[in-house]
Amino acid sequence: MTVLRRIDHISDLHFGRVDEGVAEALLAALNDGPADLVVISGDLTMRARRREYQAARRFIAALKAPVLVVPGNHDIPTYWPWERFLDPFGRWHRYINPDTEPLWQDEHLAVIGLNTVVRAAPRLAWQEGRVKRHRLERLLQRLARLPPGLFRVVVAHHPFLAPEDAPETPLAHRAAPALAALRQAGVRLILAGHLHRGYVRLHRGTTAEGEDLLVVQAGSATSTRLRGEPNAYNRILIQDGQPSITPRRWNGHTWL
Ligand SMILES: [Fe+2]
Ligand SMILES: [Fe+2]
Repeated sequence: MTVLRRIDHISDLHFGRVDEGVAEALLAALNDGPADLVVISGDLTMRARRREYQAARRFIAALKAPVLVVPGNHDIPTYWPWERFLDPFGRWHRYINPDTEPLWQDEHLAVIGLNTVVRAAPRLAWQEGRVKRHRLERLLQRLARLPPGLFRVVVAHHPFLAPEDAPETPLAHRAAPALAALRQAGVRLILAGHLHRGYVRLHRGTTAEGEDLLVVQAGSATSTRLRGEPNAYNRILIQDGQPSITPRRWNGHTWL
């Protein structure tokens, strides 16, 4: 019997600078025959303001599908340095989720969050991300505890591979060793955002079982801050262990 799962992957919503018409149409598109899971790969807000978090929470609550969401660099406070330093994910925990690295699984699919947001670090710009060693270790342990045979997906905010036409694009720090380790752990897809550009890259090499590892980037689903691409998200089908990724783009009137 065919096993089919669908993930709708949205990213970089940026409440606080959202095109309201696009957001409304996105909600309708996502709820019209809901996916098995909606993944949101960070940057829910613009400046981590309370009213932005409240709008993001309303959006998430209106989704009919289960939702898995990880934070982005815009989701920790920048205007309130003490809060950024002492409790960077306090608002996230209050408004969105007590966990920044949630797990969703059923009998065929497992999706796990990886938090790449850094509150402050020497030689690191505020918007840059990092795969921290202890977070990668924890993720690998969680992956190892999963039943064998599940299709494994990791969700992060910062990119792990650059677009082919812009190889100098900054990536999550320590992305390369993380990719190698996740490949060994049987991860098939890494879903991310941050660049407001959608693309799919094949990681060179294969998983331990000889399967491909794809890095899937989503554009910005609803933000008015666009970098040469329309608002977009990814519709991901996984049929009998084989993923296919279809970008859906906003043409000014509808999602195509
Ligand atoms: Fe963003
Ligand atoms: Fe970002």
